[in-house]
Amino acid sequence: MIEKIEQIKQQFFDELAHVGSPQALEDLRIKFLARKGFIAQLFDDLKSVSVVDKPAVGKALNEFRTAAQAAFDEKKANLEHASRPAELPVDVTLPGRPKPLGTKHPITQTIDEIRRIFVSMGFSIALGPEVESDYYNFEALNFPPNHPARDMQDTFFISKKVLLRTHTSPVQIRLMERQQPPVRAIMPGRVYRNEAVSARSLVLFHQIEGLYVDQGVTFSDLKGTLVSFAKQFYGSDVQYKFRPTFFPFTEPSADMYISCFLCKGKGCRMCKFAGWLEILGSGMVHPHVFKYVGYNAEKYTGFAFGMGIERIASLRYDIDDLRLYYENDVRFLKQF
Ligand code: PHE
Repeated sequence: MIEKIEQIKQQFFDELAHVGSPQALEDLRIKFLARKGFIAQLFDDLKSVSVVDKPAVGKALNEFRTAAQAAFDEKKANLEHASRPAELPVDVTLPGRPKPLGTKHPITQTIDEIRRIFVSMGFSIALGPEVESDYYNFEALNFPPNHPARDMQDTFFISKKVLLRTHTSPVQIRLMERQQPPVRAIMPGRVYRNEAVSARSLVLFHQIEGLYVDQGVTFSDLKGTLVSFAKQFYGSDVQYKFRPTFFPFTEPSADMYISCFLCKGKGCRMCKFAGWLEILGSGMVHPHVFKYVGYNAEKYTGFAFGMGIERIASLRYDIDDLRLYYENDVRFLKQF
C-alpha cells in the first residue's frame, strides 16, 4: 500500500510539473484530487489495510493529500498571475496622456516678432558683448567725458574702464568697425542699469538697436522704416508722431510715439492720460560717430534707433509691473 501511495505521488508531481495551462491543471485536479480521483481511491483502499499497518499508511496518505493540495494551489496561483496580461489587454483606444508643453517667454516672443519685421525689410542681425568698455558704451558714441550717464547711479562699473553695457548702441560701433557701408542691421540684447528695482524699472532689461548706413540715407528713410514697423507691429490704423529729443550719438534725434491703443488717444491709465505712448528713440547718426569708426561722414549718412523690449511687450500685453517678467511664475508665463 505504501508503495502504491509513493507511485501515485510520483505520478502526481511529474504531471503537475508539466502542466502549462489552466485546462491541463483542471484535468489534473479531476484525475487526482476530485471525489473520484486517485487520492480518493487510495482512501477507499485504506479501509482494507490491516489494523496494524493502518496508522502508518493513513499518516502517509494524509501527508500526500495535504502536499498535493498545496502544490496544486500554488500552481493555480502561478498560472493565474501569468495569464493576467492576456486577460486585460492594453486598450489602444484610450486617449493619450498629454505632456505639459512650455511656451516661449513673452520677452523672447516680442524679440522674435520685431526681428521678423525688420528681417523682412532687409535688416540682418548683429550681436555684441554685455561686458563693454567705456570706449564702446560711451566715448565712441560721442558722450562727453563728464556726461551724467557715466555716473555711478546709472552704470554698473566693473573697473574704471570696464562696465555692463547700459544700452545696445555699442554694438553699432563694433559693427561699423568691422564692416563698410551699406550697413543695415538690428542688434537685440540685454542691457544693465544701476537703478532701484520697481514696477517701472529693472537693473536688467532688453533693447533692440537698429542701424542703417549708406549713401543718401535721410530722415525720411528713418520715418518710413519706423512707421512701417509700427504699422506691422501695432496694426495699420496706428497713429504716430516724432518729437525732437537729444542723444549724444544722433543729430537730429527724435522719440517716436504711437497713439494709445487702449483709449485710442482719449487718455487713460496706460498712456498716463497723454493719449500717446513713447515706443523708441531714434536719430541720424552723428558725424562724430562716423569719425570714430573711420567712415567718411561726407559720403555716408545713416539712421539709428533703439527700443526697450520690456516696455514694448508691456504696452502690447497691458502689463503694469516689469518685475513679472523675471519672477518665473508659471501662472504669469502660461498666459502667453
Ligand atoms: N541708446 C538709446 C537709449 O538707450 C536709444 C537710441 C538708440 C537712440 C539709437 C537713438 C539711436 O535710450
